[in-house]
Amino acid sequence: MNLLITGCCGHIGSYTSQNIHKIKKIKKVIIVDNLKSNRFHSLFNLNKKTKKKFLIRDISKKNSLNDLKNIDYVIHCASMTNAEKSFSKKNEMYRNNINCLKTVISFCKKNNSKLIHISSTSVYGKKAKIVDETCEKKYLKPQSPYADIKLKEEKLIKKEGRFLKYNTFRFGTISGVSVGMSFHTAVNKFCFNAAIGEDINVYKTAIHQYRPYLSLKDAFKVFKFSIENDFFKNDIYNALSGNYTVKQILNKIKKNKKNIKVKFVKSKIMNQLSYKVSTKKLEKEGLKLKNNINKDIVATLKLLRSQKRLKT
Ligand SMILES: NC(=O)c1ccc[n+]([C@@H]2O[C@H](COP(=O)([O-])OP(=O)(O)OC[C@H]3O[C@@H](n4cnc5c(N)ncnc54)[C@H](O)[C@@H]3O)[C@@H](O)[C@H]2O)c1
Repeated sequence: MNLLITGCCGHIGSYTSQNIHKIKKIKKVIIVDNLKSNRFHSLFNLNKKTKKKFLIRDISKKNSLNDLKNIDYVIHCASMTNAEKSFSKKNEMYRNNINCLKTVISFCKKNNSKLIHISSTSVYGKKAKIVDETCEKKYLKPQSPYADIKLKEEKLIKKEGRFLKYNTFRFGTISGVSVGMSFHTAVNKFCFNAAIGEDINVYKTAIHQYRPYLSLKDAFKVFKFSIENDFFKNDIYNALSGNYTVKQILNKIKKNKKNIKVKFVKSKIMNQLSYKVSTKKLEKEGLKLKNNINKDIVATLKLLRSQKRLKT
């Protein structure tokens, strides 16, 4: 079977491309990216265990995938993803991400390809003890243009549902190392700052707020489970390894790196309130995610280990 991975140079896409041989039924992979993120290095030394072909494509362009055929599954990772920067790039992000999804939907419809669509748990945003996929509308309160666009993507794909086999997964914030990893999200950013001895900027109100996190290993487990079990129910599922407060994340970092410096800052998205996200729906389908994000923290800090020697 053949697979298309969009956004293959990014944090999740690069990990998926590198590990795809673990899904035995995939024999050939087409990987595409527009390289706008300049993560050329994601293409270095890709293992040869599964046949891969890289194509530079801006998939926000309607016809950009027209020449591809015989694709059974699509893992759609191509997206602009920086939530904090999305306030100043709202229109560009909207155009890019919605158009990318439209291209992918129309490709999947034409080719009968099954689609894995990634949304985000940041579509929730109202204070709640625990939220699940069936929550009332009032709990869907995106606090950034990025999260708002994710909700619009979910609606768009649902509208097309009759003509498509897909699942939408609301991923928690990703932790873990990949060749194309980014550092604009909580765990990675904190690890980076801790490693180079810089202040860890924490949104003032966020320190005791719960948020969902997803280890890259578990993200891949979601893809593997979907493809191996042909799990495409035209539905939405939360996917996370655990809910943690920022304080808990910082404590995990502290265990591995002493003397971290925390500075409280203001942010437009700091009015997000505390919420835990339920994992029950996916568990009922037989998929339990429980990778330890501690290990991701250790691995990320290890990447920057040499920084210690530079300290004066
Ligand atoms: N990383 C997280 O914490 C997280 C959490 C929840 C959901 N997600 C979602 O998972 C998906 C992948 O996230 P990621 O962290 O790997 O993102 P990323 O920013 O690391 O990578 C995205 C990749 O998409 C590419 N891209 C962007 N626009 C494109 C276009 N028009 N044509 C072709 N390629 C394009 C970029 O060049 C980049 O390499 C996104 O939909 C993101 O919103 C990520």
